[in-house]
Amino acid sequence: MTTPTTTTLQATTATDAVSVSIAKLTKNFGRLQVLKEVSFDVAAGEIFVLMGPSGSGKSVLLKHIVGLELPTSGRVSIDGKDAAAETTREQVRMALVFQSGALFNSLSVYDNLALYPREHRVTHEAGIREKVMRALQILSLENTAEKFPSELSGGMKKRVAIARALVMEPQLMLYDEPTSELDPVMSATISEIIATLREEYHVTTIVVSHDRELALGIGDRVGILMGGQLVSLGKASDLRSPQDPRVADFLNPKIDLKHPRFKNLET
Ligand SMILES: Nc1ncnc2c1ncn2[C@@H]1O[C@H](COP(=O)(O)OP(=O)(O)O)[C@@H](O)[C@H]1O
Ligand SMILES: [Mg+2]
Repeated sequence: MTTPTTTTLQATTATDAVSVSIAKLTKNFGRLQVLKEVSFDVAAGEIFVLMGPSGSGKSVLLKHIVGLELPTSGRVSIDGKDAAAETTREQVRMALVFQSGALFNSLSVYDNLALYPREHRVTHEAGIREKVMRALQILSLENTAEKFPSELSGGMKKRVAIARALVMEPQLMLYDEPTSELDPVMSATISEIIATLREEYHVTTIVVSHDRELALGIGDRVGILMGGQLVSLGKASDLRSPQDPRVADFLNPKIDLKHPRFKNLET
């Protein structure tokens, strides 16, 4: 049996990794302003963690990076190329790991992973098999190839979703809440996977997460989005003693039965 350490994807080289720049990104859905002049840069090979409460615009921001949403104003660029342009998606290999995993339930794990390379005729079937099995090995999922998503645990589904992204040999990996709904040990496992993939493939990584342990454990830098605005941007270690009271409350909420929060909820 091949050990994971001898398993390599076509290694993304240091010169392959891409940088991402978000410049004054504003997004409105009708009258709802979801992102308000958000700006930050992610360096090639960096792990950037974007945190923030539910509804603060994190997923919408990720969708702008992969070109699924277009800015109302401002610009997202990848290595200087406009993320909204079709040609950028042809030139840059990027993969978004959706929060839900977005696996096809009627397809086996193997066929979920083979779907993209088959549709894009990346290579012949034997070559696809090699890529798929390699991605499964990297995530210790060899034994799940013939299983269907409904037969997998939550943590396995997340790993399959990551393996499916790896098959694309991405230069840019985006993860939307990769540890949500997982127990603390499985969350730590997923964090280790994300960090290992960055180390081994030098892939630029953006992780959207509420998970403080993930941010502190593997983030190079962390941004915090609140109400569509970036209220904090800095090194992950800065989060240990946040200055902004909103950020402190978000990261270390204290249960206060004298002033319960649900009495002040707007909706
Ligand atoms: N396609 C859409 N049309 C209208 N409103 C949307 C759309 N996508 C997201 N929103 C709204 O944008 C806000 C931010 O959503 P989202 O980015 O999903 O938040 P989160 O930070 O939890 O990922 C929410 O109020 C959501 O309802
Ligand atoms: Mg979201």
